Amino acid sequence: MAMRIAIPKEVVSGERRVAATPDTVKKLIKMGFDVSVETGAGTLANYPDESYESAGASVEPDAASLWNSSDLVCKIHPPQLRSDGSHELDSLKDGATIISLLFPEQNPELVEHLQRGSKTAIALDKIPRITRAQKMDVLSSMANIAGYRAVLEAAHLYGGFFGGQITAAGKTRPAQVLVIGAGVAGLAAIGTARGLGAEVRAFDVRPATKEQVESMGARFLMLDVPMDESGESSGGYANIMSDEFLQAELACFAEQAKEVDIIVTTALIPGRPAPELILQEMVDSMKPGSVIVDLAAEQGGNCTATVPGEVVMSSGVHIVGYTDLTSRLPTHASQFFGTNVVNLLSDMGGAEDFKVDFEDEVLRKSTIVREGELTWPPPPDPEKPAAAEPAKAAVPAPEAPAPKKSSGHGHGPSGEPMAVGPRNLIALTLAVVLAIIGFTAESAPVPHFVQQVTVFLLACFIGWQVVWSVTPALHTPLMSVTNAISGIIVVGGLLGVAGPELNTAAILGAVAILVASINIAGGFLVTQRMLQMFRKEGN
Ligand code: NAI
Repeated sequence: MAMRIAIPKEVVSGERRVAATPDTVKKLIKMGFDVSVETGAGTLANYPDESYESAGASVEPDAASLWNSSDLVCKIHPPQLRSDGSHELDSLKDGATIISLLFPEQNPELVEHLQRGSKTAIALDKIPRITRAQKMDVLSSMANIAGYRAVLEAAHLYGGFFGGQITAAGKTRPAQVLVIGAGVAGLAAIGTARGLGAEVRAFDVRPATKEQVESMGARFLMLDVPMDESGESSGGYANIMSDEFLQAELACFAEQAKEVDIIVTTALIPGRPAPELILQEMVDSMKPGSVIVDLAAEQGGNCTATVPGEVVMSSGVHIVGYTDLTSRLPTHASQFFGTNVVNLLSDMGGAEDFKVDFEDEVLRKSTIVREGELTWPPPPDPEKPAAAEPAKAAVPAPEAPAPKKSSGHGHGPSGEPMAVGPRNLIALTLAVVLAIIGFTAESAPVPHFVQQVTVFLLACFIGWQVVWSVTPALHTPLMSVTNAISGIIVVGGLLGVAGPELNTAAILGAVAILVASINIAGGFLVTQRMLQMFRKEGN
């Protein structure tokens, strides 16, 4: 019998999201699972029961029996008490697996409860932020949504335009937005505020974020203390900073608070209370009608005046402490969450080869309990020579293309010498043979033709080698070189058509001029587009 997955209705009051949508249910069924959804599980996310049935799932009215008859339960929030007083986990049968957010540090009783019987528990919040696991990382996909929604909440409460206006009735300047913490949520907030036309400035303790902030059209704030202190720890998260650094940061925000209309704070170091960065006196110094959206509300808040879950008014400033921003965009949040779960289950082997493989770093780090045995916290990473690459692609930030491995001679992108492969040897031999033919062509029956063909083949060969060996990042300057070559072709073509007769050479010359001109014009257009993509505001 196929493995059965249960998708229960979330019991947290007010939660609108669901861990699977009809679309992701189809994918799960394709992977070989049977899927059962609790009645009304997706209703608040705009996925009615019938849409699950048409996707191939069965709909079950009773939560306890749904859990009890399933091999796998996928949900969003950590298992908890239902309104009837029963605990969700008590309905999970022995040998079954639960996949959800678990936050084991904050929920020691839950970790203890999970060890009763022979259950397996995978914490989606413990999926490491490594490039390979991005597609399963619900914290990133949800933070992206929260950053977007935070700006919409601010725009809703703010009494003005985000983009500047010039109308017959007067003109307004763009709203000034400060984003603190340029992680996943922060970058999404920058993108959304910029999209609405606001002028955005941002700050983060990780110097690596400066480029990302600027590439999204925002200004990166610099502190008076040198940024030599690296705020980056492994896995793309922040380090704890020195007191001197935090004081300089507070002084900077005190100045900023007087100028800006909107502050979105997302600063957090995982596992620690949120740093207090917007103090009461800064709130008091803001213009009346300003808005602060504090995404870190659940971890205590980055603003001292935040009340988690509520919107409060202090000195005429709205302070939004919603902790359910993702649930306020339930349709897409459920779709993203469900897709992350599908990707994780596919990584685990689908229904046929389902297993919790501890050779897989993602599963080793996110498995809290395996068949009743506590496996969390995982063993520490072996010392790495360099900091791990942060994975931030859930945010639509422009990415530099990965350097392509060169196949030619010389040095690779990291400067290490490259081996001469068999392909290069063949190419070299071919080039030498062609060169010899070219030089000895005088004695051939049609010497002129052989010479021309040789030059042509050599040119193709060298061109291919050059293009192949250049890393993609350098293709734009390379295009300029090919433009110069096309220029020479145009001159050659002009010489061809210059004669009085309309012979083959003249026709070929005209074709050469046409093709080379297209190449030149196209090259300029593409180069200009690429440069615009990377151009920073103000430069
Ligand atoms: P992240 O770890 O990617 O980003 C946090 C950023 O804050 C990091 O770039 C870090 O360098 C920066 N940071 C840490 N200390 C700082 C300091 N003192 N000054 C300036 N920057 C500092 O986290 P992510 O995924 O972007 O989430 C951000 C926050 O949003 C978290 O608190 C998360 O819990 C919250 N969140 C809130 C939701 C809600 O509904 N309210 C929903 C989803 C996420």
